[in-house]
Amino acid sequence: MEKLVIEGGKPLKGRVRISGAKNAAVAIIPAALLADDKCRIENLPAIRDVLVLRDIMNGIGVKAELKETGTLELDSSGLDCWNIENGLVKELRASYYLLGALLTRFGRVTMPYPGGCDIGVRPIDQHIKGFRALGADVDIEHGLIKIRADRLVGKQIFLDVVSVGATINIMIAATMAEGITVIENAAKEPHVVDVANFLNSMGAEVKGAGTDVIRIKGVKQLHGTNYMVIPDQIEAGTYMIAAATIPGGDVVIENIIPKHLESITAKLIEMGIDVRENGDSVRVISRGRPRSTDIKTLPYPGFPTDLQQPITVLLSVAEGTSMITESIWEGRFKHVDELKRMGADIKVEGRVAVVEGIGKLSGASVYATDLRAGAALVIAGLIAEGRTEVGDIYHIDRGYEQLEDKLRCLGADICRTNT
Ligand code: EPZ
Repeated sequence: MEKLVIEGGKPLKGRVRISGAKNAAVAIIPAALLADDKCRIENLPAIRDVLVLRDIMNGIGVKAELKETGTLELDSSGLDCWNIENGLVKELRASYYLLGALLTRFGRVTMPYPGGCDIGVRPIDQHIKGFRALGADVDIEHGLIKIRADRLVGKQIFLDVVSVGATINIMIAATMAEGITVIENAAKEPHVVDVANFLNSMGAEVKGAGTDVIRIKGVKQLHGTNYMVIPDQIEAGTYMIAAATIPGGDVVIENIIPKHLESITAKLIEMGIDVRENGDSVRVISRGRPRSTDIKTLPYPGFPTDLQQPITVLLSVAEGTSMITESIWEGRFKHVDELKRMGADIKVEGRVAVVEGIGKLSGASVYATDLRAGAALVIAGLIAEGRTEVGDIYHIDRGYEQLEDKLRCLGADICRTNT
């Protein structure tokens, strides 16, 4: 069992470079199947979700080679499989993008239900609503999703909830549907825009991504492309919060798109943290104990749910009382029990957590319950007095490239051990 062992109390100082965006990468790789040709995808993060997707690709007849530089070369001319039996699809949520991609390519797809972080009920009814609207028959039998369409035809689709996954999946499925598809109440996250840009680089006609109405004009064929994935908004936000949590911290976070981080920057400034944007980097300076504030997670451009768990740590040592409302995932407070072992004073009632800021956390043995909970506990270990051990770090490896190496370069006392 691998663990991260952290001796806390050292402020972070230096520069850290942000990797490619996980949630863009995991959609772009399946979307590459739309071309029966070669795609070259650059700036992929070195994370487990990308490795799993590469293995799924190789398992269905695609030649997928991942270079050390983070470039994936995909040749899907040999792809002949629409029935995915590979259990690996259960290892990540984003395998649901194979539904949209294979449906478009073969007019049918069968696949087990996807897996992913346990952060609450994760329905895919809006994806299914979209596929059905485009003319597909969808059945769910014995844990398998079975979708079939003689032809896909563009439609106006209003999403009942703002869903990143449904927006991207419908966008993928509509690229070669006959006529025009309009997705209303679409998600506006940076990775939605990145996938649209990727599809357009393959010859698709997707307009309006980044707004809540996306228009897709179906084309007859898509071709291979070279594409570079955007930097990871959530990884960048995680390092901003880590830098802010430990007084005396002074970190320059490089290779970011500041616009994507506005809601995080605004919150940190509200808490008294010095945040300075400079081109494609941001410097975060922590001069002392932060002030409390309230947070409500919302779809982009609101405060991202994926940073709720890390910022809870910052609030747990802030001066005063903070209220956190988690409006996206009802099960995303599992890190709170672990933080309590470290002395945090947090009460959870339904979707609201009330955090009484305390002067310090103390090191303890804790477990990552999901990806961002893992990052949050590592940040807690960085500030805590004494030694913290974070177990179940396979969750962290799914989505953070070399977390402990990057933190060590910033002066943290952190190492991975195998017990
Ligand atoms: C994506 O999940 C991300 N995952 C999540 O990141 C992120 O937390 C989430 O978007 C919200 O930003 C990937 O991109 C792979 P949603 P997704 O569909 O697409 C409800 C991380 O830590 N909903 O936007 O699965 C749903 O219950 C992860 O990197 C439906 O009701 O999320 C939720 O309340 C974890 N029906 C809300 O919509 C549906 O069909 C938003 O979900 C789909 C979603």
